[in-house]
Amino acid sequence: MFSQKDGVLTVEDVPVTEIVEETGTPVYITSRARLEENTRAYREAFPDAGLLYAVKANNNLALMKIISSQGFGADVFSDGELYLALLAGFKKERILFNGNSKSREEIEIGIVSGVKFSVDSLDELKTISEVAKEYGKEVEIAFRINPDVDPKTHPKIATGLKESKFGLPHNMAVEAYRVALELDGVVPVGIHCHIGSQILELSPFVHALNRVIDIAAEIEKEGVELNFVDMGGGLGIDYEGKGSPSPADFAKAILPEFERRKSELGSDPQLWLEPGRSIVGNTTILLTRVNAVKKGYRNFVAVDAGFNLLIRPAMYGAYHRVAVANKMDRGAEETYTIVGPICESGDVLARDRKLPKVEPGDLVAIFDAGAYGFVMSSQYNGRPRCAEVLVSGDRWDVIRERESYGDLIVKQKIPEWLL
Ligand code: LLP
Repeated sequence: MFSQKDGVLTVEDVPVTEIVEETGTPVYITSRARLEENTRAYREAFPDAGLLYAVKANNNLALMKIISSQGFGADVFSDGELYLALLAGFKKERILFNGNSKSREEIEIGIVSGVKFSVDSLDELKTISEVAKEYGKEVEIAFRINPDVDPKTHPKIATGLKESKFGLPHNMAVEAYRVALELDGVVPVGIHCHIGSQILELSPFVHALNRVIDIAAEIEKEGVELNFVDMGGGLGIDYEGKGSPSPADFAKAILPEFERRKSELGSDPQLWLEPGRSIVGNTTILLTRVNAVKKGYRNFVAVDAGFNLLIRPAMYGAYHRVAVANKMDRGAEETYTIVGPICESGDVLARDRKLPKVEPGDLVAIFDAGAYGFVMSSQYNGRPRCAEVLVSGDRWDVIRERESYGDLIVKQKIPEWLL
């Protein structure tokens, strides 16, 4: 999907130079074929599972429409994500409302929308029960369990360690289900956990699954009938070109264990997964233009996108492959550090990369920017956000327009006494 023609990076059949002539830079560019390849890989690997796309990874409506049309449900983490997911065509029956700090208003919106909830605390359970009763509804819930499993990933994206803020400690789970069984308005039908993100080793998933099934067996004794066991998302992708497990590898590791352990249960729950990054991560590049090249302590290449548009390198020290998109047929000549235009020393996109000779005006592509890219962007330093483009074969469409100065002042108000 990402190749080159006459030295120019192409996305499917479109040279990126053709796109930037119209959109300018920076711009996020997504390959539809790659996205569909990813959704298909999951569907083939897990034909019987419930697949919920984690909307937080990328909530562009056009991309979510493609994902929902491939039979995916959605994991949403806020009322805003719920709004976007419904707009993109995800069916309410296949939406799970996650989150560790839901407001009463958010809970109300979720209940009125008719989605299921993953409940993070007993306080939240009580609120859901109260609101459900007000509306005369019965809400299907799962508890988010903290299994205390080390996912062997970056500490900022490990979510199932005992010190993490997410979920109920696993030794409190049975009591929580007991409470839920006693309350009106809530029906416990599932169990949920999510151990972290960008996980490249599969054993932590199996470990967590075993913890969760141990609890499932306990809560069945209390009278819970389980419809689903949701193991969350977290499968890592190949940012560094060193390989990563595919959905098929993931299935090979987890499905036999799921089937084996499920036979110990009285009920017949469906396995649910909530992939985000492994659906959208490698579908998209962020294309930037070089403003200046400066030889100093390092060989700096200053481009027009920084952590305002892709925060992952600054926030997690994340590695993204880069290439000079208009010199794809040239060999590496020098070592460069790619920096953005933001007024912070931490605004480094890629450190010490061997690239062809870089000059002002060149285009630098940052790969695997489809997950937690645009969604985590900001207008810091007064920079309007960039456009997003979707390529399908030889056609391309703008799927989000570049923001303007007007967007920098949307919703701002100057008090009358200052006018
Ligand atoms: N389900 C739940 C409950 C989650 O919290 C997450 C991600 C997912 C599913 C999807 O995980 P994935 O398949 O994408 O790994 N901004 C960070 C990642 C934060 C992940 C938050 N939760 C990054 O850029 O690496």
